[in-house]
Amino acid sequence: MFIRIFVTLISLPIFLISAQTEHGFIGSSSCGMCHKTEKQGSQLSIWQNSKHAQAYKTLQTEKADQIATEKGFKTKAVETPECLKCHASGYNVDAKLIGEKFKVEEGVQCETCHGAGADYKSKKVMENRAEAIANGMIVHENLENFCIGCHNAESPTYVEFNLAEMWDKIKHPIPEK
Ligand code: HEC
Ligand code: HEC
Ligand code: HEC
Ligand code: HEC
Repeated sequence: MFIRIFVTLISLPIFLISAQTEHGFIGSSSCGMCHKTEKQGSQLSIWQNSKHAQAYKTLQTEKADQIATEKGFKTKAVETPECLKCHASGYNVDAKLIGEKFKVEEGVQCETCHGAGADYKSKKVMENRAEAIANGMIVHENLENFCIGCHNAESPTYVEFNLAEMWDKIKHPIPEK
């Protein structure tokens, strides 16, 4: 009894802090429900046809395992956190933050770049930019700084990053109304 009260008292503040900072992942198909028609900007299919959607599967190839071995890792590429950190999302978070439709196999996905969406996905929150940001949505003022967080020489297969060219391959704007 005493133990339980004690545990409740110390875990409550921890719970409050984590509730404010940790958002659940819902998966790209859930974002796609509202971001897939041409009128909305076809974000879902643009992403599906990009290499980002393949980034996890790339780690399951022989080439990837070979690179991991050469780098001195003893694990398969797809099990190596030092590879996963740029090729996937959600593999290193508490299972209770992972929604039913979330798939780690989807690699670099909507929520990798825009933040875990469980708390901003509702229409009401999404329509209010400030509210969405307050609930975990990430927007990027400086594209280049953001991209080179992964597109840098720490990547074993690094090729020079040309922002204009690369953005052109993955951009997915909301059409002007
Ligand atoms: C219920 C529908 C709905 C869902 C689900 C949804 N969105 Fe949205 N989203 C919207 C609407 C509506 C807007 C505002 C569009 C506008 O301004 O024309 C928006 C805007 C955005 C913007 C633009 C923000 C800005 O102002 O720069 C981003 C980024 C975004 N959504 C990402 C996501 C991601 C990532 C997910 C999944 C985690 C998601 N959305 C899920 C409806 C939705
Ligand atoms: C979380 C890490 C991460 C971030 C952030 C990121 N990328 Fe990538 N990107 C990757 C990975 C990993 C690949 C390789 C995927 C593969 O081939 O399996 C890739 C591949 C690409 C490709 C395909 C390259 C080719 O040869 O066709 C383009 C284009 C690209 N990224 C553009 C961008 C742009 C533009 C940004 C910033 C807006 C960005 N990326 C941000 C991880 C990231
Ligand atoms: C590699 C990173 C990356 C991925 C993956 C990605 N986005 Fe984006 N997205 C960006 C960046 C960068 C911008 C432009 C700056 C901003 O609004 O944050 C953007 C812009 C947007 C916008 C606003 C466009 C506008 O015209 O204002 C929406 C909506 C959006 N993304 C939705 C999505 C959805 C839905 C997915 C998944 C299907 C997705 N994004 C996947 C990086 C990404
Ligand atoms: C700093 C981020 C980062 C890390 C860490 C990283 N990658 Fe990548 N990876 C990328 C990006 C970005 C690309 C797209 C090509 C490029 O510019 O490097 C990529 C592409 C690849 C490709 C496809 C290359 C091709 O030409 O077919 C393979 C395979 C790969 N990575 C394996 C790995 C392995 C294995 C590890 C771990 C040992 C790893 N990556 C760690 C960011 C990263």
